[in-house]
Amino acid sequence: MTNQVDNSKRRFLTLATGAVGGVAVVAVATPFIASFFPSERAKAAGAPVEVDISKLEPGQKIDVEWRGKPVWVVNRTKEMMDNMAKIEAKLVDPSSEGSEQPEYAKNKGRSREDRANVLVALGVCTHLGCSPTFRPDLAPADLGAEWVGGFYCPCHGSKFDLAGRVYSGVPAPKNLDIPPYKYVSEGVLLVGEDK
Ligand code: FES
Repeated sequence: MTNQVDNSKRRFLTLATGAVGGVAVVAVATPFIASFFPSERAKAAGAPVEVDISKLEPGQKIDVEWRGKPVWVVNRTKEMMDNMAKIEAKLVDPSSEGSEQPEYAKNKGRSREDRANVLVALGVCTHLGCSPTFRPDLAPADLGAEWVGGFYCPCHGSKFDLAGRVYSGVPAPKNLDIPPYKYVSEGVLLVGEDK
């Protein structure tokens, strides 16, 4: 795993610090943040990217860069998972039949089933390619009383749930893409390779 500190790339990382289901999520320290960034050499080659998720708390999201694009990793809480099940009638493709993901992520949570709480998704809106915003907060004023957490694209208002599944009636036509990924150890994820 690469632990090289790359200050110029820290902007790619987002840590959710908002309240999730009434429980405050605490941001973690800088040394932990640095461990998420791959080396310049790996990025240049489009190589798989190792991500240390051992300290990723429930409810938190981090961003990494893979092949020049943002990839989100979210440690979903049980409440988040339960809320996802409640809004399926509002989604275009809740089972992800018509969406882009590896076979092992073709399920409602869109994740490997042995680590179903962890979402790994491409943070690129399927409308025109903006990067949506992580909005885990419940019923915020701007998104309405029925919002149970998800991702909101500020460009044209597309909404996705916490599995990257798109809501009906928004510009984005399909769910967010899921990149190939696998676990190389209990707390380390490899994005970009699954064999
Ligand atoms: S790019 Fe996201 S809604 Fe248009």
